[in-house]
Amino acid sequence: MNSEPISTPSPSLNRFMDRRSFLRTSVQTGAAAGLFLSTSKNAIARETSPDKVMKCALVGCGAQGNRLRVSSKDVPGIQWVAVADIWDFARTPTARRTAYENKHQVDGAVAEYTTIEELLDKQKDIDCVFIATPDFLHAPFSRMALEAGKAVYSEKMMSNTIEGAKDMVKAGQETGQIFQIGHQRHSNPRYLNLRENVIKKAQMMGRITHCYGQWNRGVAASQPLGVPKGQEISPDLLAKYGYNNMEEFLNWRWYAKYGGGPISDLGAHQIDIFNWMFEQEPETLFATGGVDYYDGKEGRAKFELPDNVMCIYEYKRPEGMTRAYYQVLTTTGSQGYYEKFMGINGSVAISESPTYNQMYAEPGQDWSKWSEGPNPFILKPAESVINKFWEQERDWKKPSPPSYNVSELAKAIADVRESKPLAPWDLAVALERPPHAPHVQNFIEAARMKKPEHLTCPVDMAYRACVTVLKAYDSIASGQKYHFTKEDFAV
Ligand SMILES: NC(=O)c1ccc[n+]([C@@H]2O[C@H](COP(=O)([O-])OP(=O)(O)OC[C@H]3O[C@@H](n4cnc5c(N)ncnc54)[C@H](O)[C@@H]3O)[C@@H](O)[C@H]2O)c1
Repeated sequence: MNSEPISTPSPSLNRFMDRRSFLRTSVQTGAAAGLFLSTSKNAIARETSPDKVMKCALVGCGAQGNRLRVSSKDVPGIQWVAVADIWDFARTPTARRTAYENKHQVDGAVAEYTTIEELLDKQKDIDCVFIATPDFLHAPFSRMALEAGKAVYSEKMMSNTIEGAKDMVKAGQETGQIFQIGHQRHSNPRYLNLRENVIKKAQMMGRITHCYGQWNRGVAASQPLGVPKGQEISPDLLAKYGYNNMEEFLNWRWYAKYGGGPISDLGAHQIDIFNWMFEQEPETLFATGGVDYYDGKEGRAKFELPDNVMCIYEYKRPEGMTRAYYQVLTTTGSQGYYEKFMGINGSVAISESPTYNQMYAEPGQDWSKWSEGPNPFILKPAESVINKFWEQERDWKKPSPPSYNVSELAKAIADVRESKPLAPWDLAVALERPPHAPHVQNFIEAARMKKPEHLTCPVDMAYRACVTVLKAYDSIASGQKYHFTKEDFAV
């Protein structure tokens, strides 16, 4: 039954269907079709023919810029031609690594530029620009590249301000260029299986009444980054590029001038997933948070933006209210990061980390039909992982009667109507590539075909997620529930 073609409720979703089928094929064959095998100079053009090879440049050679570059290695049709970064400590090693690690995607040298202006001015042959700089630069840099006629992949969070994000949408509209935002879960076949098959087609969980998301990161992983020895950028140069000092340049995420703090940096991914799964935006938001730990006291780091935020969103959906709770913590890594959707017939926990990949059927639900056929939606989990998450009953040593009297035992039962444990399943689709690879591929395909409708995270969709997240600051500041208006999501 579930191996039948999936019906598409609206034409606009056809792109997801087509995309997913392709991704599923890629996953099942273990690699994307068109994987480069040769490293000879002319290999790129020959092996991706008849499709155009897209000449690509990377702006921002930090952690994420390099992640995108590495993720692109099995994406057909990419030729890396240039990188740009104001910090030679990041730029030069990235240019060298590109030439070496992506050598099948390089024809000759990888040019190095300090600024995006210089890159766009001197390297006219570029088709696509990847922007992985701090958030405050996404809006001006995207506009520059789009106006220069390039397709743009800009990292999330779109901007640290709603005005900046709005300008990105406008720049996309004005130029008509391909413009993808880096919410890579939109192209992840595991997430697409959940969205298209489990939630929309099979409606396995029934009415989804609640969802939850968290990104918990411990103190060790939240410490400020220090300057590598001898790699300071001069104060004059830092000022020229808009940074107050080296400490802020490195730890930009924690300052409103450059970034949006953890709720934007990490929440951007997951709150976006609430909107994306429901295909709508929330009605209201209540948020609380603050700089409760990284306050500069007793040897602790001092950050400007809230180090923990908790939000409750209300989605008025056709089938009724869905409340979504989200938290980002930077003082504990407890249970990591994942999203959870809970319906009356079952629930699912999913994350970009494949640790969370399980569904749970409420008692009485028979989900076995969804595990049948050549493309099952769910699978029976291996016995070895059956207890990996909290829905399962744990073996525990019951108190032995002689040491308790009957009235004591009665007190030990929390609630006689305690729910029965839920039956575990695994989501059936795996991603056997780096998590960003399908999203980069989706962008390159859209750029090659000049088809914006092929994008899984176009700029206007990402804008609505950006507003949904950044309005948390309005609620925190006022202490009041924020009521979204239509105008909030319009450009
Ligand atoms: N999609 C994801 O999963 C994901 C994960 C991590 C980060 N990100 C996003 O990627 C972006 C970069 O994050 P990161 O962790 O790599 O940060 P980073 O600090 O490691 O890297 C930023 C790089 O930008 C360079 N840079 C700063 N100003 C510049 C300028 N004016 N011109 C050119 N280069 C400049 C810096 O020198 C640095 O090399 C952010 O927007 C972040 O939110 C996305």
